[in-house]
Amino acid sequence: MSKSFLHEVDAVKLVLASNNKKKLAEMREILSSAGFEVLSQAEAGCDFEAEENGTTFAENAYIKAKAAMDACSMPAIADDSGLCVEALGGEPGVYSARYSGSHDHSDAQRNEYLLSKLEGVSDRRAKFVCSIACCFPDGRVIRAEGECHGEIGFEPKGENGFGYDPLFIMADYPGRTMAEISAEEKNAVSHRGRALNKFKEELLK
Ligand code: IMP
Repeated sequence: MSKSFLHEVDAVKLVLASNNKKKLAEMREILSSAGFEVLSQAEAGCDFEAEENGTTFAENAYIKAKAAMDACSMPAIADDSGLCVEALGGEPGVYSARYSGSHDHSDAQRNEYLLSKLEGVSDRRAKFVCSIACCFPDGRVIRAEGECHGEIGFEPKGENGFGYDPLFIMADYPGRTMAEISAEEKNAVSHRGRALNKFKEELLK
């Protein structure tokens, strides 16, 4: 990255269209190295939730980023992400956050539900997908996508991360779930880390 570019983006503030504190922390960690300051919706003074009615991760990411930009009158970034399980035909996919029937269920309840759907299933292949959209007030939209491959375990393991992390055994760290690695290790290879790195490359273009 050129010095002049870094200087140019040094002051760029982005609001993250999400109330997920763990996502916010991951985004901050990864984007701060590109000179971005990621604000929560509360910090930007605009607390709202966009309706995620798209049928793809990319559509939902754009819906959320555009809604946040319009509501906060500043550049906004959103990610839509989820888990796609091969033996379940790609489910839960865009429904990952409400797979067990409600947004209000805990991560533990969602993990228990996923395990019940995979009872007796030996093909455990799965991937996390993350689609990023960043909307700027001048009409520019930057998009990027990242994937992370692995398998669904038979019981939750590990305390780190969030969501389906305790069930996701990583191809990049054989034998360990995404909840058993550090935040730095996760950011280096995760779907969100990969999408955000591509996003940074797109910005540089
Ligand atoms: P959304 O992108 O906020 O609509 O929610 C995506 C859902 O997918 C989350 O609520 C989690 O259940 C799951 N998910 C997304 N990213 C991750 C991750 O990095 N680890 C574990 N679960 C994730």
